[in-house]
Amino acid sequence: MIPLRPAIRDMAGYIPGFQPPDITAWIKLNTNENPYPPSPRVREAILAELGESGASLRTYPSASSDLLRTAAGELYGFDPSWIIMANGSDEVLNNLIRAFAAEGEEIAYVHPSYSYYATLAEIQGATVRTFSLTDQFLLADFPRRYHGKLFFLTSPNAPLGFAFPLPYLEELAGRCDGMLVLDEAYVDFAEGNALDLVRRHENVVVTRTLSKSYALAGMRLGLAIARPAVIAALNKIRDHYNLDRLAQVACVAALRDQSYFRRRCEQVKETRDAFAREARGLGYTALASQGNFVFTAPADRNGRRVYDGLYERKILVRHFHDPLLAHGLRISIGTEDEMEQTLRALGEIGSGRP
Ligand SMILES: Cc1ncc(COP(=O)(O)O)c(C=O)c1O
Repeated sequence: MIPLRPAIRDMAGYIPGFQPPDITAWIKLNTNENPYPPSPRVREAILAELGESGASLRTYPSASSDLLRTAAGELYGFDPSWIIMANGSDEVLNNLIRAFAAEGEEIAYVHPSYSYYATLAEIQGATVRTFSLTDQFLLADFPRRYHGKLFFLTSPNAPLGFAFPLPYLEELAGRCDGMLVLDEAYVDFAEGNALDLVRRHENVVVTRTLSKSYALAGMRLGLAIARPAVIAALNKIRDHYNLDRLAQVACVAALRDQSYFRRRCEQVKETRDAFAREARGLGYTALASQGNFVFTAPADRNGRRVYDGLYERKILVRHFHDPLLAHGLRISIGTEDEMEQTLRALGEIGSGRP
C-alpha cells in the first residue's frame, strides 16, 4: 500500500467548475470569469517579454515580484512591504492556513461561501467550523469571542452576491483572537472594500485576485495585503519563484491600465443589474449582487430543472447540490448578448410559476 498520510488518502479533493474542452460551443457562465479580454497592454507586455526568440524564459523570474508589489502598492495606497503576490489568490489562501493553523487547530468560514477553504484545511489537518447566515445576511451564530486560528470571510459573498457592511466586518475583526481573512475576490464589482481594516487591525488580511475583474484567470495572479510581519511569514512559506515571467509583466500592465479596468467593471455591473431585473420579470428570484454573478432561483425552486434546460441550450451555469443552494443557480455575468440569450432561454424553460 502507498504510505499516504491518512488525511490525504481519505479526502475527496476540491472539484473546480467544469471547463468544457469545446469552449467556443458554449455560453460559459459557470466560473465567474470575465467575458471581456484583459487590457490590450497585457498582450503587448507578454509579447515584449518573450521577444523574438523567447530567450528571457531561460532565466528564473524575479523571486520578490518587486515591480508588481510596487504597482499594487501605488494602486491600493500601501507600502510594498504590506503586499505579497500569489499564483492566484488560492495560493495565498493555502499559505495562510499553513502559516497560522497547525494540525488539529481550528479554522472557520461561512456556509455558504467558498468551499475551497475546507479542502485546504483538510490538507493541513486543521479542523473546520462553519458559521451560518441570518435572513439579513449577517452571521447567525458567531461567538462573542472566536478563538479559532483563522476565519475566512468572503465579501462580497459567493455564490449569493451580498457584501457585509464595513462596520460589521470591523466588529468581527475585534471579536477574532486569530486572523480574519477577508476574501475580496469580487470586490471590484462592489460598492466598497475593507482595505482600511488592514490599516487599523493587525489581525486582518485582505486577499484579492486578478482572475475576475482583470480578466486574467488564465494567468493565475492574486495578492494579499496585511501587516509586514504577516507578509514576511507568508514569504517564508511560498514557492520562491511563485510567479512566472509572463504573469509578472501581465500583472503590472493590467494594474497600470486603470481606465480600461474601470470601463470593463462598469460594463459588467450594468449588465448584471439589468440581468437580475429582467430575470425577476420572468418570475425568477434574483438576489441583488455585488459580484460578477447573480444567484437566481425559479418559482418552483427546482434549480436542477433550469440547469438542465440551460445545458441543453449550450449555456453552462453553476448548480450546487448543497441543500441551501440547490433551489437556485449561480449565473456569471457574460456579455450583453450572452445574457440576452440566457434570459430568452430562462423564459422558454419557465420559472415553474403556477
Ligand atoms: C471567493 C473566491 N476566492 C478565491 C478564488 C480563487 O481565485 P484565484 O483564481 O485568484 O485563485 C475564487 C475563485 O473562484 C473565489 O470565488
